[in-house]
Amino acid sequence: MTAPLPSLQAIAPEIVCLADHERRAAEVLDANAWAYFSGGAGDERCLQANRSAWDALPLWPRVLRPLAQGHTRIRLLGQEYAHPLLVAPMAFQRLAHADGELASAYAAAALGAGFTLSTQASLPLELPAQAVLGTAGRGPLWFQLYLQHDRGFTRELVQRVERAGYEALVLTVDAPVSGVRDRERRAGFRLPAGISAVNLQGLAPAPAAAPGEAALCAGMLRHAPTWEDLAWLQAQTRLPVLLKGILHPLDALQAARLQAAGILVSNHGGRTLDSAPATAFALPRIVQALQDSPGNAAALPVIVDGGIRRGTDVLKAMALGASAVMVGRPIVWGLAHAGAAGVAHVLRLLRDELEIAMALTGCATLADAPAALLDD
Ligand code: FNR
Ligand code: LAC
Repeated sequence: MTAPLPSLQAIAPEIVCLADHERRAAEVLDANAWAYFSGGAGDERCLQANRSAWDALPLWPRVLRPLAQGHTRIRLLGQEYAHPLLVAPMAFQRLAHADGELASAYAAAALGAGFTLSTQASLPLELPAQAVLGTAGRGPLWFQLYLQHDRGFTRELVQRVERAGYEALVLTVDAPVSGVRDRERRAGFRLPAGISAVNLQGLAPAPAAAPGEAALCAGMLRHAPTWEDLAWLQAQTRLPVLLKGILHPLDALQAARLQAAGILVSNHGGRTLDSAPATAFALPRIVQALQDSPGNAAALPVIVDGGIRRGTDVLKAMALGASAVMVGRPIVWGLAHAGAAGVAHVLRLLRDELEIAMALTGCATLADAPAALLDD
């Protein structure tokens, strides 16, 4: 099966930017789903900081530069792709639309964008893979992994992921526990009947803390992954393993030393540690640390997400040294009100805006992007 191009005609002409998609999604989703998809942790300072950090960076136009041979192509993990947009892993997409992850994967493939399926996807992991693997010009197809307390179960899950045709594992390392999700708790968030993390079916519940022990520290965190588990995972799989949720430059260096295939500079879209730095703030520090490090750490792919809402944000990320960018919530916005066509429209808008931003800053290719920023 190959993915048909979702018809963009289905989108109302007055929807011209990602914020318009957000407004439509807010209209169609109920309060329960909206709280889950749009909320962040705590006072949502990190959620807001992600946005304001991109906004605070001016792009400096350069004029009269030759643009004729321009393109948005990038190289990632040894492959060439048409542009740097990837869909971030997001759980439970059937909560947004009946077609769930299948629609997002279809749309991403049709638009040449990468797609990452969450461990907590609401559809069997084989379905999106079967739907898109044969699509010409598609982006990378990755699986986001949460290491489970039962390592035997995790190993079998990884084998299933490999058999299904996924091309890399994205190990999420910033969420040993869920953040303090005030918005979800206030809304009394619950998964409706029929929506669940189907790929974790059969996983036994984690052993609980004994009476009198601290529930968190003696329970869940006893099974929290550590740097040693990265080596364990690498030994289980032939797939490249990227680490998602790196913010500290020292952790980026550690990831490079331990042969991670890449890192994702991410604060989980402001959903884990409130007060974590905005990703636009962390990214250049990480890129600098990798560059200053001996060996070939500077070649480590660095992907960034968090608050990317405009083509100008994508260009700023590339200018700060990103290899590609991931987009989270806007994908769900498009999905919620228009299914695959909505996701495709979101990706199309971002790509068109990126090309316009490149032309207006005199960047023929993304290799020119750093010139669009000045250090002040
Ligand atoms: C996420 N994110 C996430 N990350 C992950 O590694 N595994 C997951 O299952 C999820 N699930 C998830 C659900 C929802 C509703 C959201 C909004 C986010 C984090 C996601 O991959 C990404 O890091 C952020 O969403 C990026 O920020 P923006 O683009 O949403 O601002
Ligand atoms: C979230 C989890 C699933 O952010 O990663 O909701």
